[in-house]
Amino acid sequence: MFIIEKSIRECRKCNLCKTALNAVCGEGNIDSSVVFIGEAPGQTEDETGRPFVGRAGKLLESLLNEIGKKREEIWIGNIIKHRPPQNRDPLPEEISLCQPFLKAQLATIDPKLIVTLGRFSMNYFYPAGKITNDHGKLRKVGKYYVYPVYHPAAALRNPTFAKTLKEDFVKIPKVLEFIDKGAK
Ligand code: URA
Repeated sequence: MFIIEKSIRECRKCNLCKTALNAVCGEGNIDSSVVFIGEAPGQTEDETGRPFVGRAGKLLESLLNEIGKKREEIWIGNIIKHRPPQNRDPLPEEISLCQPFLKAQLATIDPKLIVTLGRFSMNYFYPAGKITNDHGKLRKVGKYYVYPVYHPAAALRNPTFAKTLKEDFVKIPKVLEFIDKGAK
């Protein structure tokens, strides 16, 4: 993981590194059976070099606590490692240039379950997915089980998304149990 993180910090393949303060590689327990993947760093993440440490991160932490997990127990990362200016949506080219890093990180961690936070993260694993339709539905993508949920930042803006995010989130322990029992 150290070598991957070094490559992320040294990456100059797109322009995001020119405006970002820090790369946000991801953090947490690389032996975790479940990982949480967001979109891209926001301002606080850019300033600290850590994923999900702003308001959306606080919500993520409280949801994790609801399912009996602390953030140090799991791994949290993003599909994009440098902050897009003004938190704009990542461009297709940026996603594709950054894609090998998350791929390598997931190969190292080899999680049982990937929880995607928001549509960009879900579309990294299945590009045709629609978050309004596919949230809360477990799917096998290659060797990984992927479980999409709404992005915590979307939940902070919209009470309906907040309710749905919580409903989907509290099912994660059951989803893990289902996978453990040898889901096909
Ligand atoms: N939103 C994301 O998608 N990722 C972060 O790390 C923070 C906010």
